[in-house]
Amino acid sequence: MKSQILFEEGPHKWLVIGRDDDKKKEVIDTNEYVIIHNNEAILLDPGGIEIFPQVLTELTRHISTENIKAVFASHQDPDIASSLALWADLSTDLKVYCSWIWQGFLAHFGMGTDFKLTGIPDDGMAVNIGSTKAKVYFVPAHYCHSSGNFSVYDPIADILFSGDIGAALLPPGEHDMFVSDFSSHIKYMEAFHLRWMPSSRALREWVNRARAINPKMICPQHGSIFAGENVNKFLNWLEHLDVGRWNKGQEDVDIYHTTWMGWRFDKSLAKNQI
Ligand SMILES: [Fe+2]
Ligand SMILES: [Fe+2]
Repeated sequence: MKSQILFEEGPHKWLVIGRDDDKKKEVIDTNEYVIIHNNEAILLDPGGIEIFPQVLTELTRHISTENIKAVFASHQDPDIASSLALWADLSTDLKVYCSWIWQGFLAHFGMGTDFKLTGIPDDGMAVNIGSTKAKVYFVPAHYCHSSGNFSVYDPIADILFSGDIGAALLPPGEHDMFVSDFSSHIKYMEAFHLRWMPSSRALREWVNRARAINPKMICPQHGSIFAGENVNKFLNWLEHLDVGRWNKGQEDVDIYHTTWMGWRFDKSLAKNQI
């Protein structure tokens, strides 16, 4: 696993940790992000329990564990937050932020550890990084893909963390943290968005929010980061994506199969099998 500094100016720093060559092949590759201000940190989508040791090793090269003050979970998936209890064990008074709708669900990752979950209201909220004056903003991203979902905007670095929006499933050996050629990157994102994103309308509304923010960088939880002109290229692509459909016609069968729409159940036949 490697870490890369995305932004550094005075006391403010962004790190991405990712590209774990040693992870089990069954485990999806993830990016973990850390915002540090005056030596206090918030962790964005800390990752799954499977990769906790590797993330911790990289992270402690930059900050000591007692200075991790908060963890943000964009949504409830295990690749986002199944490591929560392990982070809570390392740092007393760790604050955990997630959508209010997932509070009771994320508590299932507790493994006997009491961690303090703060439910983010649907309209989002701003929080300070530890005891510092630096604020980050939780931006609504509901139904992209989870029904209670947030992005994070940091105005100091001008970076928008987008969670699973913009996620790409990269081939093994692809190590570049940034998208270099947007049109050739589409093939790694398209299938993920068509299947995991349920609502084109929700995506378009998120695109409007992202355009209003107009960040320098958009950082997804899987795959590569969009910077410079690729930010707008990505938003333009996302805006026109038609997701959440299943009757897509024969030409799309190879992307994510549509055969389940023909599923029928013969109850009497099933009973006769007993
Ligand atoms: Fe997810
Ligand atoms: Fe994910």
